[in-house]
Amino acid sequence: MRHAHLPIVVVGGGVAGLATALSAGPASVRLLCRAHDGCGSASALAQGGIAAALDPQDTPAAHAIDTLAAGAHHNDVAMVQWLTAEASAAIAWLQAQAVAFDRDSAGDLQLGREGGHGQARIVHAGGDASGAALVLALRAQAQAAAHVQWRGGVDVDGLLMQEGRVVGVRTCDERGRHEQVEAAAVVLATGGIGALYARTSNPPGADGAGLALGLAAGAEARDLEFVQFHPTALDVPGHCLPLVTEALRGAGARLLDDHGHALMAGIHPQGDLAPRDVVSRRVAAVRAAGGRVWLDATAVAGDWEQRFPTVLATCLAHGFDPRLAALPVTPAAHFHMGGLATDADGRTSVPGLYAVGEVACNGVHGANRLASNSLLEGVVCGRRLGRLLANADAPVIRDEPMQLVERGNSLPAAQLAVLHELLWQAAGPVRESTSLRDAWRICTALAPAGWQARLAKALLRAMRLRRQSLGAHWREDRGCPH
Ligand code: SIN
Repeated sequence: MRHAHLPIVVVGGGVAGLATALSAGPASVRLLCRAHDGCGSASALAQGGIAAALDPQDTPAAHAIDTLAAGAHHNDVAMVQWLTAEASAAIAWLQAQAVAFDRDSAGDLQLGREGGHGQARIVHAGGDASGAALVLALRAQAQAAAHVQWRGGVDVDGLLMQEGRVVGVRTCDERGRHEQVEAAAVVLATGGIGALYARTSNPPGADGAGLALGLAAGAEARDLEFVQFHPTALDVPGHCLPLVTEALRGAGARLLDDHGHALMAGIHPQGDLAPRDVVSRRVAAVRAAGGRVWLDATAVAGDWEQRFPTVLATCLAHGFDPRLAALPVTPAAHFHMGGLATDADGRTSVPGLYAVGEVACNGVHGANRLASNSLLEGVVCGRRLGRLLANADAPVIRDEPMQLVERGNSLPAAQLAVLHELLWQAAGPVRESTSLRDAWRICTALAPAGWQARLAKALLRAMRLRRQSLGAHWREDRGCPH
C-alpha cells in the first residue's frame, strides 16, 4: 500500500479541461488530448461568447431567470444561481489569463445580446471567434505552466480501476501503442456527442468517447435525452458543418423560405430570435417538406471582418458571400445538456472519476442551454474542480493488480455512417415513439460491434423514457405538458 504522488489526469484540451488544469496548480497535472495542438475541441469553434451580468442595469438574478426559462425549469436552481453569480469573476480571471475581450469606443467591454437573454450581457473576443481566443490564451498559459504536462495525439480508451475507484487511464497513440498512466484523479473534459449525428456544428472529436468511457466504468448518467440543435449551420455537404452564429440574427439577419417569405412570421413572438429548439423545428419541418431555408444577412451593417470574421471566412471558403446573398442553412446537433451525472464539484458516482464541461451534467442547463452559457460553465466549473483537486489528499494505491475498463472497439466506418443518419432521423429536433423504438432496436443489434452503438442505445433509451416534450426534447407524438 502506498500514498502516491501521482498527477491529476485531465482528458480534453477545451476550455473546461484547460481551466481545470490551470486551477489545479501547484498539484501536478497531465493534460491529455486527441489533437496535437489542442485545437480539436468544440470550445475552439464556439462563435457565441460568454454570458455575464456586467451591465449596471443587469444582475446575476436576471441572468439566472433567463437560464431557468431556457432550461424549461428542469435546471438545478442552486447551480444556476451559483453559475450566474460567478460569471463576472470568470471574466476577470480570463482577462488575467490574457484573454482580450472586445471593447466599445469608450474602452468598456462590449456587451451583445443573444436569443433568450433579456439583457445585453454577452462578451466576445475577436468578434465571432471567442472560443478560439479563449482556447488560444488558456493553452498558452497551460503550456507555460510548470505544473502542467501537455500530451497531444493520444486517445484515452480505458480507465484503470482498483476496488471500485478510478486510479488511472490507458492511452492509445496514433500508432496504436498503449500506455498506462496512474493518476491521483481522472477528469473527463471530453466534450459532447454532436458528432454522433449526421449533421453537427461540433468537430469530429465530439463523438461522446468520454461519456462512453464513463458509462463503461459504471458512472451514472443524467438527462441524456436533452440535445440542443442549432438552427443555422451552413447547408453544405458533409458531417461537421460550419456554424452560422445566432448573433447574425441578433444583428438583423432573417430566415426565409424558398419563396423569400419570413420563416418565423406567426410562429413565435420573438420571430427569428425565438428559442433555438423552436427555430430548429421550424427549419427542420420546411426541409422535411422538400423546401430549403435561407439566412439573409445582407442587411447586417458594420464591419464583417471585425464582427463576424469566422462566419465570413468560412462562407467565402464554401463559395458563399453572406454580404451579397442569402446562405442555405440547416439545423445541426450542437450541444448536449445531459452527460455523466456530477455534483457541483464535478464528482461522478465513481470515486476518483470527475467530469466537467459538456461531458458532465450537473443540472445547470436543464432541458435546454441558454446561449453563451457553455463557455461560462467550462470556466466556472473547471476552476472550481481544479481548486478542489489541488487540495485533495493523495489517494492510497494498493500493491494489487488494477482492473482495466475499456471503451471497446469503434464501429466500422460504414456502420458508423448508418448510426449517424439513424440518430439524425430518429433522435433529431423532432422525435416520436416508433422511430425511437426502431432506432433503439438497430442500435441493440449493432451494440456488440462498437461503443458508439452502445452509447446511442443509452441516449435512445432516455429519449424513449421521457414521453412528453420538454425543452429541446420534442415528442411529436405526445406534445408539450405546458
Ligand atoms: C451561436 O453563436 O449561435 C452559438 C452560441 C452558443 O451556442 O452559445
